[in-house]
Amino acid sequence: MNKRISVQDFARFKSAGEKIVMITAYDACQAFWCESAGCHAILVGDSMGNTVLGYENTLPVTLEEMLSHSAAVRRASKSCMVIADLPFMSYQVSVEQALHNAGRCLKEAGADAVKLEGGSLMAPTLARLVQAGIPVMGHIGLLPQSVLKEGGYRLHGKSAEEAEALKKDALTLQEAGAFALVLEGIPAQLAQEISLMLEIPSIGIAAGPHCDGQVQVISDLLNLSGDKPPKHAKVYADLCGIATEAIRKYVEDVKQDKFGR
Ligand code: KIV
Repeated sequence: MNKRISVQDFARFKSAGEKIVMITAYDACQAFWCESAGCHAILVGDSMGNTVLGYENTLPVTLEEMLSHSAAVRRASKSCMVIADLPFMSYQVSVEQALHNAGRCLKEAGADAVKLEGGSLMAPTLARLVQAGIPVMGHIGLLPQSVLKEGGYRLHGKSAEEAEALKKDALTLQEAGAFALVLEGIPAQLAQEISLMLEIPSIGIAAGPHCDGQVQVISDLLNLSGDKPPKHAKVYADLCGIATEAIRKYVEDVKQDKFGR
């Protein structure tokens, strides 16, 4: 059996200049694909809200939903690190709430780490989780859980002020003990500067090619839903087309009384 990727491996990848491959997955079948393809880490992202559960955004996703899907992913992955996303309002209320819920992700779902969104303001919470022995991945830049406050999704860090604030956030979260940092929706050059500045690995999404690793949403990569993919995504397969066509053939077989004959 392969040894599971750990936070120490993440540090080693950074020092060796080896790119880290992270992808989202939301169930055992997807986890099996990602594991077999050689990904280092699987993020059970709260993007599950849009991609799997049919919500408009990530805000309605509950901790119970995250626990159930993270456990399914964990059961099917033998060597990938499994990171559970802390959903909206499961960690922002108090440090105690964050500790309790992040602990449930490890104890009940078997996650190897958790991820939470936010900059310097989240540093005390992040530090407390790490003190308790919970590996935490930070997430700065475009924060999907802040979509209502922001009035939509946009590139962050374009102005000098925003870029400086993001650099400060990155250093503060590293200081608080994050083992890695997702950089989402920021200019490629800023992502490169932050990546060079940090001792911990940066994992980019819509942040250009210079991060220490990349994370992509599996539903975009494989066109699972048939929705228009975001600009930054590369579509490697059209599983929606393949599946729809296969089911269409099944429908025809049954209707024409050819099925099972
Ligand atoms: O929920 C998610 O899929 C994420 C990635 C976009 C990083 O947070």
